[in-house]
Order: sequence, then structure tokens, then C-alpha cells
Amino acid sequence: MKSTFRTVIEPFIIKTVEPIKMTTVDDRVNILKEAHYNLFKVKAQDVLIDLLTDSGTGAMSSNQWSAMFRGDESYAGSQSFQRFEAVVKNIFGFKHIIPTHQGRAAERILFSVICKPTSVILNNSHFDTTRANVEFQGAKAIDLVIDEGLNPQKIHPFKGNMDVEKLKKAILHYGAENIPICMLTITNNTGGGQPVSMQNVREVKQILNQYDIPLYFDAARFAENAFFIKEREQGYDEKSIKEIVQEMMTYGDGCTMSAKKDGMANIGGFLCTNDDALAQMEKELLILTEGFPTYGGLAGRDLEAIAVGLEEVLDESYLQYRIAETRYLGEHLSAIGFPIIQPPGGHAVYIDAKTLLKHIPPLQFPGQSLSVEMYRAGGIRTVEIGSVGFGKVDQNTGADLPSEMELVRLAIPRRTHTQSHIDYVVEVMKEIYEIKNELSGYKIVKQPKYLRHFTAEFIPL
Ligand code: F0G
Repeated sequence: MKSTFRTVIEPFIIKTVEPIKMTTVDDRVNILKEAHYNLFKVKAQDVLIDLLTDSGTGAMSSNQWSAMFRGDESYAGSQSFQRFEAVVKNIFGFKHIIPTHQGRAAERILFSVICKPTSVILNNSHFDTTRANVEFQGAKAIDLVIDEGLNPQKIHPFKGNMDVEKLKKAILHYGAENIPICMLTITNNTGGGQPVSMQNVREVKQILNQYDIPLYFDAARFAENAFFIKEREQGYDEKSIKEIVQEMMTYGDGCTMSAKKDGMANIGGFLCTNDDALAQMEKELLILTEGFPTYGGLAGRDLEAIAVGLEEVLDESYLQYRIAETRYLGEHLSAIGFPIIQPPGGHAVYIDAKTLLKHIPPLQFPGQSLSVEMYRAGGIRTVEIGSVGFGKVDQNTGADLPSEMELVRLAIPRRTHTQSHIDYVVEVMKEIYEIKNELSGYKIVKQPKYLRHFTAEFIPL
């Protein structure tokens, strides 16, 4: 790959702007109190830099906006669908392309059709909606990422890889007849946005072939994964991103996709398969719950935005900037002293709050403490991925159990922030690092039965 020692610049100019409302620390102290220290309850207009998610929060290009104007809103056989289908087929190569309103809708349809209560789905790491949709069918979701992928500080070029020895054991343990598909999440969001190598995909496919188990990709961040392959895997530096994606997809039998990530759109998704009988069942279910197979719960104009976005995401200068932005943030936080998942992933930087705030025990939520402080000090919104979101309750004693890791994710929306925004985040984080030992833990005073992180109320201890 061409390398240059100059600054990697944003490969676009800004044509439309959305003002940020400035707030002071005093404003934010009050906002936090009113939101009961839950950042999901803070209004978006009260956030300066929103790093809650990279999903559906990116900026669209002028080409995407103009394509939306030609959206064909016909109920059946829309031209927008034909354009969308042609682009997806060209890049992904699968036979059947089924549009859905977002990634989790594709997951629900797929698992409803292929799972029985005795089924087991294998994955490097299931994203939480993927796991929830598998478990909703009564089936089991098993994660088989390599051990390096579970060790935050460990440097490895492809920490998203599936452990092939664990895969062989899992197939023997659960029985191939109970495993309708195996998935690879590219990049592996739950493991820190870490890529999967082409070699790993080939090895996984080879094992699955012995047992006739289809391979599916959770392709939400497929282009970022391909960029890491180009950068880090031998034999790929001269290949285009599109060629890398096309090769990877030839090893697959289908995919699920959230177009809110590497589709560069604000909404949308799709489900692909090469299996005619399966596609038929999936389309029947689609009609029941999402819509006719030529729109799948989306407007024609949304299909147009995705069709253009999927071409734009393959642009190497875009990906170079995208990965450089995340890496820049990760390296600066690491230089200050923040323990982060290394190396920084494609779409986000993850801070290990358990290591940073050793004085706050996991059940006093160190990740929550750090993310609340980031909002108080700088108006930066992030998400806790730790015992608030993933803590469990002991079935016998009813006691709270901590989650394995206490992370705070800083996810970067696509084409949305300038370098000075990121520099501002780094400055705020420098201040927080100085006072980290003064941060307090939190206690939950009110919580719902499910998915408590969205609505729980806290008090500082
Ligand atoms: N798969 C992965 C790897 C994801 O990261 C997500 C969403 C989904 C599937 C579900 O897609 O949101 O379109 O229904 N991730 C978002 C996030 C929510 O913040 O990481 P969806």
C-alpha cells in the first residue's frame, strides 16, 4: 500500500453543517442530575461530541442525497430495489438479496427460519442483538474467538479470528446436525472492533465443509475489516478493497448486514443467501413482518442511499481516513496512560475502566463512573459496556454478578467529526486522567427487568 508520512486528511469537504449547542460544566451537572446519571436519558442537543454509537449516525455524501431524490416508492418491483440489488450482488456475490429495516431484522428472520430450540449458533463473538435473536428462538449462541481476542492489552493483528481448535471441539460437542450455521462477525464489535484475517476465514470454511455447515458473515463493518486485511495480511497489499471483500464473500453462504454501519446510511440492512429454499421461507416471513421483498421495511430512497453508500465505503482514501481517525484517538489516549483494548479497532476505542479505576469495585460500575465524568467534564457521550449493560443476576441467590470486563466504548460516527473534535476529546481525557482517583462509584436505585442500561437510574456514592 502507498504510504505517506503526511497527515491523513478528511477526504471530503463539508457542505452542510449542524450546529453544536455549547454547554458548561454547571449546565451538565444539572443535566446529569435530571437524567439520573444515565446518558441514554440525556437529550442529543445537550451533547457536544456524541460517541454513543457509529450506527446510523454518520454523514451522507452529496451523491447519496441526490440519489435519494430518485427513490422509486412503488410497492412492488421498484427501480430503487433493482439498483440496490445490483450493487449488493456485485460486491457480495450472493444469489438472494433480501432488504430489511436494519441488521437485527435480518437476524430475526434468519434465526426464525433456521433455528430449533436444540440449535447452536457458533460465532467469533455474537453482537448483543445477534445473541438475543438466537436465544429468542430457544437456541444457544456460542462464542469461539481466539484467546488473544479476550485479552485487552495483547497486541495481535487479527484479534477477531475464530479459534479453529475451539471450532472443531464445539462441532464434536454439540453435533454438526444441531449447528444450522456458523458466523463470523467482521469486524468483531464485541471484541473491540477487531478484524478477522482471510486465512482464518479459509480455515474456518475448510472445517465447516467437512460437516456441511454453512458459513455466514455478520458483515456490518465488512469494509473496515477488508482495509485491515490490506494493511496487515501478506499477499493483499496490492489488492483493491472490493477485491478483498469479493474474495472473502466467496467463502460464505450468506450474510446479515446492518447498513447503518458500512452501508454509510442512517437506516437499513439486508439478508443474503445462496440457498433457494431458505430464501423462499425468509421472503415469506419478510412479507409478514417487514414488507414486500422489493422494499423490506425501507423507503425506496433509503435503498438508493445504501446502494451509493456501499460503493463509497470501498474507497481506500475514505477507509484510510476512517481507520486513521480511530487510531489517532486510541494512540493519544494510550499515551496519556489510559488502558485501552489494543490495537485500536476499526470503529471505536474501548477503555478498560476496571484497570483504570481500580478503587471502584465492578458492582459500583467503574465504566459508568468514567462515562458520566466524560459527559460532566466535556459533554462527551459514550457507552458503558460492563456490569451495567451485561451484569447478570445469580439465579439461586438473586445477587448481582459483575460482567467479565468493564469497558467504555468511544464509537466514531462516519465522516462526522473533524480532527479538532478528536483533539478536544483527548484534552478532556487528559484532565480526567489527572483526577481519576477522585471519581466515585455509582449505585442503581431503580431498574427495569430487562436491558437495564437504557433506563436505570443511578446515584453517585
Ligand atoms: N451486528 C453487529 C456487529 C452490530 O454492531 C450491530 C449493531 C448489529 C449487528 C445490529 O444491527 O443496529 O442495524 O439492528 N450495532 C450497534 C452498535 C447498535 O452500537 O454497535 P442494527
